[in-house]
Amino acid sequence: MKLPFIPGNAPYSDTQRAWLSGFFAGMHSHMLQSASSIEPANARPLFILYGTQTGNSESLAHDAANRAKAHGLVPVVKSMDEVEVDQLVKMDHLLIITSTYGEGAMPDNAEMLWDAVKSASDLQLGNIKYSVLALGDTSYDLFCQAGIDWDNQLAALGAQRIFDRVDCDVDFEEPTAEKSSKETRHYEISIAGSGLNYEAGDALCVVPSNGAELVAAIIKALACNGDEMEPVNGESLSLKTALTDYFEIKLPSKEFIEEIAKRSGDQELNAILASGDKEQLSNYLWGRDILDLLLQFPQVEFSGAEFIALLKPLQHRAYSISSSGKAHPDTVHLTVASVRYDAHGRHHKGVCSTYLADMVDESTDVRVFFTPNNSFRVPQDDSLPMIMVGPGTGIAPFRAFLQEREFRQAQGKNWLFFGDRNASTDFIYRDEIEALQASGLLTRLDLAFSDKRYVRDVY
Ligand SMILES: Cc1cc2nc3c(=O)[nH]c(=O)nc-3n(C[C@H](O)[C@H](O)[C@H](O)COP(=O)(O)OP(=O)(O)OC[C@H]3O[C@@H](n4cnc5c(N)ncnc54)[C@H](O)[C@@H]3O)c2cc1C
Ligand SMILES: Cc1cc2nc3c(=O)[nH]c(=O)nc-3n(C[C@H](O)[C@H](O)[C@H](O)COP(=O)(O)O)c2cc1C
Repeated sequence: MKLPFIPGNAPYSDTQRAWLSGFFAGMHSHMLQSASSIEPANARPLFILYGTQTGNSESLAHDAANRAKAHGLVPVVKSMDEVEVDQLVKMDHLLIITSTYGEGAMPDNAEMLWDAVKSASDLQLGNIKYSVLALGDTSYDLFCQAGIDWDNQLAALGAQRIFDRVDCDVDFEEPTAEKSSKETRHYEISIAGSGLNYEAGDALCVVPSNGAELVAAIIKALACNGDEMEPVNGESLSLKTALTDYFEIKLPSKEFIEEIAKRSGDQELNAILASGDKEQLSNYLWGRDILDLLLQFPQVEFSGAEFIALLKPLQHRAYSISSSGKAHPDTVHLTVASVRYDAHGRHHKGVCSTYLADMVDESTDVRVFFTPNNSFRVPQDDSLPMIMVGPGTGIAPFRAFLQEREFRQAQGKNWLFFGDRNASTDFIYRDEIEALQASGLLTRLDLAFSDKRYVRDVY
């Protein structure tokens, strides 16, 4: 048997990596031992259940699934709130990945399943082979308590622990306190002289261009030089221009995935497609873009024209406008979180959010259009109260609503809930919000930062 190996670029600490290697090796050998002749080990699912509040466990679960597949296992990733006890009982091979919240409590999505398992002392889980990867923070008294509880309860109900639980500290997953894990930017786009106007609540759609680095990397992976002329919408364009401004070159189309599967003959990808299981496919594609697939299957060759035929037209992205058209008739404000993440050994960038962040400057003409949203408006009646709940960039339309109320000198009360991860780095528009509070326009402000307290604690 090939020994499991986890590449160095996985988002794990050395301890976690070593643990997962051991876990997959152990699980594989258990599955081989218990496999019958009609049901080979690699046909049996390894269920990966995650309990999460802010996505760390979910992200690790998807990553673990990709690694499990590389070792002949068939992972099925599920959020704990998608699983009932009678389904859990049948999960012969199980990896639990869970964080801890509150004071040593389960994250929200785990509560129902946990309550059912905790209270069912007569459950027989003797068939389950499991391990637990617990995420937590050593600054809390009850470090990784949710993982500990799962571990103890599964063992108490007869399940067989394959590997001792590993408890991971938050330092592995989160940046230091003063550096935000997010990049949120404020943009002001001039519409002066365009004759266009908008209402608070509308969205602006931005038509991006693809980044030059990604375009160049794809051209290289196709073994082209970019100058090849290709027919596009009745025009003849260079491959480079077509890939820059006409096609989605990040998120793979179904046609592209099917063609890669067909030409590569890759067993895993073909099996996923044949199964028709959308969840398995989305797990496989998690964090993977078109370039990842081209690099993963270098034996698959496409001409420029063949490649283009498998792409979708480049789509616009919508952004909630964060200004009032009455207060700012000549500009449109946007509040955009740049999508940047590392996966499959590469740095990935969201097309439109990083087009705005990295490629647009004051002299760029940005291609935009408005999407009106007539069902999302500041009340016509200025005396009515407004309650606004807008965490993260969700604050955008409410900044517009508050500007509108201020412009109209509306007397109705305004109550804003805002929150994010880190109070010191993620409190966007802080000065403005505090000024609106001081002026009396914002009659009530409730803040919930996850480094301070839970969003639901404020309700
Ligand atoms: C009505 C509406 C209003 C919106 N308003 C706002 C707003 O005010 N502000 C705002 O910032 N956004 C807003 N959005 C979202 C916005 O439209 C874009 O979806 C967002 O900016 C990402 O686009 P992109 O082109 O940068 O990323 P894309 O190139 O489209 O890539 C996004 C994809 O990357 C993948 N991905 C992202 N992160 C990860 C990760 N960590 N790991 C693995 N894969 C990952 C996912 O598959 C995701 O679908 C709004 C959307 C709608 C529909
Ligand atoms: C409000 C709050 C409460 C937390 N309580 C605990 C706790 O009691 N014990 C612990 O070990 N970690 C605790 N943590 C840390 C989380 O478990 C840790 O940040 C984890 O990486 C989050 O993973 P998730 O994104 O999958 O939910 C807490 C975090 C927050 C924000």
